[in-house]
Amino acid sequence: VAIDAAGVFWWHSIRLPDGTVTPGEKSEEILGRELTALDLPDLRGRTVLDVGAWDGYFSFAAEAAGASRVVALDHYAWSMDLPAQQAYWRDCRERGETPEPYETVPGLWQPETLPGKRAFDRARELLGSGVEDWVADFMTLDPAELGSFDVVLYLGVLYHMTDPLGALRRLRRATTTLAVVESEAIALPGLEDRALVEFYPGAELNADVGNWWAPTLPALTGLCTAAGFSQTEVKVGPPDEPAHYRAVVHARA
Ligand SMILES: C[S@@+](CC[C@H](N)C(=O)[O-])C[C@H]1O[C@@H](n2cnc3c(N)ncnc32)[C@H](O)[C@@H]1O
Repeated sequence: VAIDAAGVFWWHSIRLPDGTVTPGEKSEEILGRELTALDLPDLRGRTVLDVGAWDGYFSFAAEAAGASRVVALDHYAWSMDLPAQQAYWRDCRERGETPEPYETVPGLWQPETLPGKRAFDRARELLGSGVEDWVADFMTLDPAELGSFDVVLYLGVLYHMTDPLGALRRLRRATTTLAVVESEAIALPGLEDRALVEFYPGAELNADVGNWWAPTLPALTGLCTAAGFSQTEVKVGPPDEPAHYRAVVHARA
């Protein structure tokens, strides 16, 4: 399968050994900046779990950084016919309608054939990568079966969860040393110290029906602590202008 074959949708731009870069919605430059902002520890000889890995950019980066074992876990994007889902989303926006949850739209949700995983599979093959895939819903899988990892990446996933505290409790259980949590966040002028979470009942955040929450920084670190992490360190906090932004927190087991 060519990397630009019909039916293959790329979210991540991944540089391949022949120098080509997969045609991801997210550019290589943006992903590079995001990777730097995570301020990952030395991964040599460490085990790494990437929850919500999608095309695997961060999983492959962990492998390249010397991790001894990397597991890319996902199911939602992997189960989706992504070109059809994108067309449906654009169609709804043009008509001014709120999209239905994608997994309920006929034809989009195909967990038996995993059309949304083709890009990950192709990148892994072309990279000659040993990253393991784990097809599962992190919220319902058996934590004992998953086990625990030195470092767990939880990037861009928290605000998609209907139960964010339950999600972070699961994350805690899967983490031996460090969880790296990257999330949509809000800065509210005058309320910087309050642990508040804004709720989006519909598609208010980025026109995406799967986006439910944006925490303030104290809410994000507080959620990590409430979930059982012993210590949190803010790597990316609010910008000068109050706004939506992406926070990065290191949560220690
Ligand atoms: C915004 S994307 C982030 C992708 C990647 N981590 C990144 O930072 O570029 C969210 C990802 O989380 C996955 N995801 C959402 N809910 C999940 C769940 N319950 N279990 C596993 N993965 C999930 C989605 O399929 C999607 O790939």
